[in-house]
Amino acid sequence: MSNTNIPAPDLDALPELIGKYRVLGRLGEGATSEVFLAHDDFLDRKVAIKRVRASALADTQDARYYARFFAAEAALVGRLQHPNVVQIYDAVADPLAPYIVMEYVEGSTLRPYCRADQLQSLELVVELGFKCAMALGYVYRQGLVHRDVKPANIMAVLAGGSITDVKITDFGSALNMRSDVTQVYRVGSLAYMSPEQLDGSVLDSRADIYSLGAVLYHMIAGRPPFDAQEQAALVNQIYHREPTPPSALRANVSPGLDAVILGALAKRPEDRHAGWEEFAQALSALIANHEVPRGQLQGVLDSERFTLLRSLEFFASFGDVELWEVVHRANWQRHGFGHALYRRGEEGRSFHIVAQGEVEVYRDGNKVATLAGGTSVGEMAYLAPSPDLRRHSADVVVSKPCTTISFTPETLAQVGPACRHHFDEAFIRVLVRRLHAAHEALAHPRRILVSDPLAVWRPPRETVPGRWRCNRPPLVITRSPR
Ligand SMILES: Nc1ncnc2c1ncn2[C@@H]1O[C@H](COP(=O)(O)OP(=O)(O)O)[C@@H](O)[C@H]1O
Ligand SMILES: [Mg+2]
Repeated sequence: MSNTNIPAPDLDALPELIGKYRVLGRLGEGATSEVFLAHDDFLDRKVAIKRVRASALADTQDARYYARFFAAEAALVGRLQHPNVVQIYDAVADPLAPYIVMEYVEGSTLRPYCRADQLQSLELVVELGFKCAMALGYVYRQGLVHRDVKPANIMAVLAGGSITDVKITDFGSALNMRSDVTQVYRVGSLAYMSPEQLDGSVLDSRADIYSLGAVLYHMIAGRPPFDAQEQAALVNQIYHREPTPPSALRANVSPGLDAVILGALAKRPEDRHAGWEEFAQALSALIANHEVPRGQLQGVLDSERFTLLRSLEFFASFGDVELWEVVHRANWQRHGFGHALYRRGEEGRSFHIVAQGEVEVYRDGNKVATLAGGTSVGEMAYLAPSPDLRRHSADVVVSKPCTTISFTPETLAQVGPACRHHFDEAFIRVLVRRLHAAHEALAHPRRILVSDPLAVWRPPRETVPGRWRCNRPPLVITRSPR
């Protein structure tokens, strides 16, 4: 595409095209590059294009430096697929100005929300922290340390002026633990940088955990954990000073929240949360244990939904990415006592998974099953291969107020193939269990059958908020007295 006969482009003017992409505007500037909003006419979607500045490439010393940033992101094309990570679609090694094409995030970075006059509720900060921790955990499992976690590299998705989601961006500094032989030291932004990163030590996930802790600190307190005019003073503080507890800088910060943030900011990596899973759990436990004031946000938080689904047997085989798809795509509903999820004879269009509470199944007026958290209902009619089998054969009525998530064929069609596959597997498990129970019922007509014998012996478990549980649902099937 580039023509070496034409003079270098005017840097301030908006280019009309970058490769095949129609440029619509400018989104932001980083240290190394400019980011444009553009349209992909072939796939009919907006994209963000990050292009290394031509001026930067003129200097051979800098050019080598920037080539590394480009290569780091180019290596990730199509690789990072997580709802809270900006997806990298393409990398074009244009000789004049190489560029990266990525998912466009409608919103802004987290920078404005660190300003003392724009601080967000503690509930939202913890929720966003949980999502970032889960996303960076996914990134780490891909073998990557981000190394530049800071507010300017976290995009906030906005809807109606409120933050609804976050996405991690800018993998230009990412260290690939599996393939990078040499580390380029001292990348990252000082205010959020861990002591070991200043040292140039070998880094692991705990360096990013520190940086995310510093970002959350800033979003809570309106100032970063360490602040100094002179770089040397700042470095000295990062090494030696204990940060002021966030509770001293903002009202309503509980001791629990103080501990989680200060834990991430420990000087020595071994004194921090041991990994992303632990940091994420500590953050979600703050919400579950009511250690952050609730109420500003409408309804149930995504993190609570995620944690709830993680505890259900039905979703045991789902990975984090697929579980987030379920959180976002499912239809979440609350049902009161006595509500009929299905009536006998109705055509089955949807299935429900009971997330909390309890439903009872009635056949000819007799209760035949009680289904609690983690069981699916309506899937038989939903999966039916022919129209005559597609009618519900029983009434399903709420016996304890419950939360269900439901899917229709249309909404299930929107989830990715991996997620669909996990649903299929989960359904097969459910169907085999039902078939087994039915066989037992036929073989021993007078016995009360319990399809899951463990359910009889296990004392009712106390639910431990914030802990990942995986209980098998007690599925009790009794024969009708006749
Ligand atoms: N996917 C995106 N969608 C919208 N804006 C973005 C996106 N990625 C980056 N930006 C904007 O561009 C700025 C610079 O992008 P970044 O990838 O951080 O570049 P750099 O490596 O130069 O720091 C960000 O701070 C943000 O304002
Ligand atoms: Mg950046």
